Amino acid sequence: QRNELNPYLRKPAVLGGYPQIRTRRNRTDAWTRSLVAENRLGPQDFIWPVFVQEPDGTSGISAMPGVLRYGLDRVVEAVAKAAELKIPAVAVFPYVDESLKTADCAEAFNPENIVCRAVRLIKKEVPDIGILCDVALDPFNSLGHDGLVQDGKILNDESVEALCQQALVQARAGCDVLGPSDMMDGRVGAIRRALDDAGYQDAKIMSYSAKYASAFYGPFREAVGADTMLSGDKKTYQLDFANSDEALRQVELDLAEGADMVMVKPGLPYLDIVRRVKDRFGVPTMAYQVSGEYAMMKAAAANGWLDNDKVVYESLMAFKRAGADAVLTYAAIEMAELLKAG
Ligand code: PBG
Repeated sequence: QRNELNPYLRKPAVLGGYPQIRTRRNRTDAWTRSLVAENRLGPQDFIWPVFVQEPDGTSGISAMPGVLRYGLDRVVEAVAKAAELKIPAVAVFPYVDESLKTADCAEAFNPENIVCRAVRLIKKEVPDIGILCDVALDPFNSLGHDGLVQDGKILNDESVEALCQQALVQARAGCDVLGPSDMMDGRVGAIRRALDDAGYQDAKIMSYSAKYASAFYGPFREAVGADTMLSGDKKTYQLDFANSDEALRQVELDLAEGADMVMVKPGLPYLDIVRRVKDRFGVPTMAYQVSGEYAMMKAAAANGWLDNDKVVYESLMAFKRAGADAVLTYAAIEMAELLKAG
């Protein structure tokens, strides 16, 4: 029984209608694939990181095509668009002028700093969107580190004190979710206590629990103006990417100290960690598709090497499959628009 179109293709000569089980049946048509899809992606799965800057207008970031820093005259419009697309929350990150960066990071505790002003403005103009703020000193630190530095060493406990102050000015400005991204020991418990003592029992903590010392943060450091400031690396506080048990231990501690949600960061190369955290603890588990991941997709797409929309969609679905409840992604707006357009 030769196949007329292709003589090399033959009907299998096996009796009994083998194979009885054909997993491809469920993949024959778009409707059946849709029916059996185990995961779905929607705008509610995203948190959109937004960079804010002092000067009015916007500015670009060379390694992050399509991502802008917004002045206070432009940020409301951008966040309103996210809300309209049904993205539940934004994460506000500051670009801080070098003149405001000091070794004591005083600008981080200034209630009039760019983060606090942006938060107040967004809360007033787009009240229904959740606001997350990074709790870490690096955008305000002349040494570029997330904690206070003395004689080249990061001071843990002094840094935690400073982070509590930073969290408080952010909560007072109206921030809904504090995101300690500094990786100091004991910071989650200390921030929780500081918030509770000041009457912010409902302020949530999304801890960057499994935050690795990663080279994928490069473009972000340009975005917040910390690239030229950083002396050395962050390996004495961020996790070693050779490890995963250590990440679980960190998550366990952060939960015990009062974290409401935990985060894994970076994202795509760390989906094994997302899965382990979700399986072990069963708590809201976020993942951060970081700047370097975004840059890789955009660079390949710009060269015509990858299809931007398809890889962005596939990468974000992969987070869901790994067990993430939501993804911080710079592609939140473009993806939400694509999903809306079907
Ligand atoms: C600061 C912070 C970083 C990121 C988020 N918060 C950079 C770092 O730790 O150096 C990275 C985000 C990204 O790369 O998109 N603590």
